[in-house]
Amino acid sequence: MHVVSFTNPKGGTGKTTSAVLLAEQISATGARVAVLDLDPNANIAVFAAARKRSGKAMPFDVFSRPSAAEETVGLIDDLSDRYDYLVVDLEGSKDQIVTFALSRTDLCVIPLDGSAMEARQAAQAVNLVQMTGRMIRQPIAYSLLFSRTVPAFQSSDERDVRAELAASNVANILPVRLIKRAAYTRIFRDSLLLSEMLTTTESEVAGRSPSAQEARLKPIRAAAENAQQYAQAVINALAEAKRQAAEQGVPA
Ligand SMILES: Nc1ncnc2c1ncn2[C@@H]1O[C@H](COP(=O)(O)OP(=O)(O)OP(=O)(O)O)[C@@H](O)[C@H]1O
Ligand SMILES: [Mg+2]
Repeated sequence: MHVVSFTNPKGGTGKTTSAVLLAEQISATGARVAVLDLDPNANIAVFAAARKRSGKAMPFDVFSRPSAAEETVGLIDDLSDRYDYLVVDLEGSKDQIVTFALSRTDLCVIPLDGSAMEARQAAQAVNLVQMTGRMIRQPIAYSLLFSRTVPAFQSSDERDVRAELAASNVANILPVRLIKRAAYTRIFRDSLLLSEMLTTTESEVAGRSPSAQEARLKPIRAAAENAQQYAQAVINALAEAKRQAAEQGVPA
């Protein structure tokens, strides 16, 4: 069982979107995947309920925040027995429930956009992960994820962000970024999985000129490819985290 949590005390950095993208991509490999939605705003639980109402299947199971925060650790342990992967979506705050979830996390993904200001806040998220690791006397692996970046994001912005992170001693950055894509925004707007978006859009653009069709379909294919590469990068980071934990003698 692997537990991947998405955290960043700053709101709106892409935690929920990145969590659902990961859950969908891992499910597509045939693994049993659960998502634990610990955000009181319950965006993923609402997404799952909307899909259920319209008779759409879910490739992964969604569980809601327990009524008492102290039940979180027990719930994660219970789900760990029943699924191959557990993806935990956390709220954009420093609530106690975040600490509970982190204490059972194999890899914490910290999404941030490409601004130096967000880099400083992501460094605070890293501090929280490290502090929780000290509390439980075992380090918790983390990786920063550039989410919502523009395709050309490589220039001076990235240099600024990396310099900011290096100054805060934050080194682990996922080698794949999530690009800002309309397809990713549409997941929650229309309760659609990424895998359904191509077929849905194909029927929307049927009858238009081939170039008009291509203009709509090409970004969706790019979004699907990006999501796949991103999920693979998370799986690799997870394997590395487990390898390091084994090396340190921490039971997996
Ligand atoms: N890669 C992306 N491309 C396009 N839109 C994105 C992307 N990532 C996130 N968004 C959009 O940005 C907004 C915030 O994203 P999201 O809800 O995933 O962030 P969050 O960190 O979970 O927020 P909160 O802290 O409120 O829980 C949403 O409208 C979402 O659709
Ligand atoms: Mg969220």
